[in-house]
Amino acid sequence: MTGHVLIHRFHPQKDAVPYTQSYTFRYEEGMSVLNVLNQIHEEQDPTLGYSYCCKAVKCGLCGVIINGKPCLTCEQPALPEMTLEPLHGFPVLKDLIVDRSEYEARRPDLRLYLERNADPAYQPEPIDMLRFDWFKRVSRCIECYCCVSVCPVYQKNPQEFAGPCAFTLEARQVFDPRDNLNRKILLKDMGINQCIGCKKCSSVCPMDAGPMEAILKMRSVVCNNEDNA
Ligand code: SF4
Ligand code: SF4
Ligand code: FES
Repeated sequence: MTGHVLIHRFHPQKDAVPYTQSYTFRYEEGMSVLNVLNQIHEEQDPTLGYSYCCKAVKCGLCGVIINGKPCLTCEQPALPEMTLEPLHGFPVLKDLIVDRSEYEARRPDLRLYLERNADPAYQPEPIDMLRFDWFKRVSRCIECYCCVSVCPVYQKNPQEFAGPCAFTLEARQVFDPRDNLNRKILLKDMGINQCIGCKKCSSVCPMDAGPMEAILKMRSVVCNNEDNA
């Protein structure tokens, strides 16, 4: 069976404006969108730009917009008719490849490491299992940026709102039972109070890491000083 795919093309050094290119491909039941891109790249157009590494939902590098929804190409089953675009909200480097460097440049400010200001009172150290459950969920994040590309607050004001991925990474420290740092000022500086709770980020997260739930939980626990995470 022949499949058809429309792919957003743009090479900033060569093209004046973005355009859409149409390709056909051999559609087979069970193939992924990444299989389609590899087939086109190998057999028809070696100039097509797209990124991936692990092919196994681990590296987070293959996120694109597929028929209007951000997905991982290595995970998403191909359809006979598809439209592929780069993730929204990022500069395009080439075709489906976006520039992640600006978003990643903020990482040093997030203090994404364990902060301990005291030794544990007991060894082995007791672990709060409820807090640990939150820690496990946000730890699924693979930094694919699908959530960032649909967040209306980030798209409108990226300078004042760090975006759902950054909050998910921060939540990993907040929910780590061993972390002692009070991250209240840091979270407020990241713009945590600007989240409107629309759930768009969580609804597209391929790992079910729960970025919105993490933001709301951190807002109530850290910023409003509830007792338990
Ligand atoms: S819930 Fe918050 S972080 Fe998630 S998409 Fe909506 S505004 Fe952005
Ligand atoms: S929270 Fe989910 S959608 Fe957002 S970057 Fe992490 S894995 Fe991707
Ligand atoms: S190729 Fe690594 S997550 Fe898709």
